[in-house]
Amino acid sequence: MQALAAQPESRSGNSFDARFYAVDGRPVADVSDVRMVAASPAALVAGRDVSDGLVYAVHWEPRERRAPSPPRTGDVVILADRGGVGARLGELLAAQGERVVTVLADRIDGASPDGWKALMSELGDRRCKAIVQLRALDATPAALDDARGAGDLGLALAASCGSTLHLIQAIADAGWPEPPRLWLVTRGAQPAPGTVRTNPAQAPLWGLGATLALEHAELACVRLDLDPAAPANDDRELRALAAELQAADDEAQIAYRGGVRHVARLARHTGHALAPIAGQPFRIRASAYGALENLSLQPVARRAPGPRQVEIEVAAASLNFKDVLHTLGLLREHSERAGIARAVDQPLGFECAGTVVAVGEGVAGIAAGDAVVASGQSCLASHVTTDVELVARKPAALSFAQAAALPTVFSTAIHALRRLARLQRGERVLIHAAAGGVGQAALQIALGLGAEVFATASPGKWAHLTAQGVRCAMSSRTLDFADQVMAATGGQGVHVVLNSLTGEFIPKSLGVLAPGGRYVEIGKLDVWDADRVARLRPDVAYHVFDLADAARYAPGLSASLLAETVAGFEAGSF
Ligand SMILES: NC(=O)c1ccc[n+]([C@@H]2O[C@H](COP(=O)([O-])OP(=O)(O)OC[C@H]3O[C@@H](n4cnc5c(N)ncnc54)[C@H](OP(=O)(O)O)[C@@H]3O)[C@@H](O)[C@H]2O)c1
Repeated sequence: MQALAAQPESRSGNSFDARFYAVDGRPVADVSDVRMVAASPAALVAGRDVSDGLVYAVHWEPRERRAPSPPRTGDVVILADRGGVGARLGELLAAQGERVVTVLADRIDGASPDGWKALMSELGDRRCKAIVQLRALDATPAALDDARGAGDLGLALAASCGSTLHLIQAIADAGWPEPPRLWLVTRGAQPAPGTVRTNPAQAPLWGLGATLALEHAELACVRLDLDPAAPANDDRELRALAAELQAADDEAQIAYRGGVRHVARLARHTGHALAPIAGQPFRIRASAYGALENLSLQPVARRAPGPRQVEIEVAAASLNFKDVLHTLGLLREHSERAGIARAVDQPLGFECAGTVVAVGEGVAGIAAGDAVVASGQSCLASHVTTDVELVARKPAALSFAQAAALPTVFSTAIHALRRLARLQRGERVLIHAAAGGVGQAALQIALGLGAEVFATASPGKWAHLTAQGVRCAMSSRTLDFADQVMAATGGQGVHVVLNSLTGEFIPKSLGVLAPGGRYVEIGKLDVWDADRVARLRPDVAYHVFDLADAARYAPGLSASLLAETVAGFEAGSF
């Protein structure tokens, strides 16, 4: 098929008819009344749900290369790119004992059939086992950025698809009794895992390759997509490419990313609204308050780091209780006071772990490629740009998922127990909801300080808490804890309470404090003010804080809490 002619005049408004022509100019297909409707990117993402379970999609699976099969004999013909991959591949294969014919890019005008026909007659009776087409590699992202319009893109397509089409026709005309295997090599043409940006100028060659696989099965065409993030002149990549040519595996679609070989497989498309589109940066937001179903992925533009900022490609982000409260709209007034008028503007996710992809001016000690853990705004996203003070190297012993769960809960617990309550060795502390995120961090800190811990949780979690060293595990859903604490302490109560529970739990918890005790409130709902507390217990020191608000008024607080958290893990204290 050669061309497509749109006939906008044949319809009104945003619809048109289209006609497809064969190479010889014969019309081969008509499509009538194609209608165009404007769609927002968000609607397109949400629309993926429609296909749920009905269609299959290409998924990329890691798969090792098979051991080389008995080698075919014959020459390897390399149709080299201008960037030097072909030339270096030729040298490597020759050094490995292969007979190589390298055809430099300038030698043949790919856009004309004649050059390819001449090459085939030059090869004559030589036995070719592989033809490696690397010309698409010249349509680099930089060339694409420089393209001044559809004309330039057309030239890039002529260099890759056009030249491949003429090449195939020349191979078919050559009538080799044992045709060579055809390799189409691209870079970043496919959205394999880890692809930040796909290259649309090279992608059409994969379409042509799919047709070739059906119409010229004798060429056993392999499409191989190199890593767009690979460093220039990457020897590892070159060796992998050479090994692929020699292995002659059955895989027809291969993509390398980060040194990992992936192969394409069809899998049932789940169409879940929260399934990311490879290569498209996104963030998770609620379209309206009230239900977790309102969460969806929204395409966003990545933000280049400013001075003293870093950009992180997120590998894992954690979900906090506050994210749920925000999504349900329970903190709506709080958000509105902060100038966030709509649910969709409410950032979600306060922390993540991932790999630094860019650093701004004045950043020292953290560099691109570092595995880090960080706090930031809108961390439920593919990428986050945040202040370098809120970024720390990920403790090596922790996975990305484990590390992502640390900053908020440990910073809260450290601030509450070490900084505000100044919990001491030998003191007694009541930790409410001790099986939750902050509760578990607080438990480790309190035990590490040598305190005696009383804790509440749902009954199913009590055994776990006592195994962790809790002296007395009690219910977080009834008020029985108050009598139990007083009984277990001979009526003396505890020195410190860490609370996030509401309603009657608050006065009951104040009631179990020993004279002059410290009460730290971290809850978000039903929070008492200091006067109300003082009316009931004028003797206690009452601390209430929100970590995000506290950080706004105390520069350096978040950084020091994060550093203390990471140091605790590095030292094995947590
Ligand atoms: N002030 C701050 O800066 C700050 C920072 C972080 C977190 N927080 C607050 O600290 C609290 C805990 O946060 P988190 O991230 O640790 O949450 P989490 O991991 O979800 O844990 C919350 C725990 O609360 C317990 N709970 C007791 N009564 C509950 C009820 N009626 N509904 C739901 N859960 C109930 C649950 O354990 P059981 O089933 O065992 O009772 C649950 O494990 C939240 O209120 C959060 O907003 C405050």
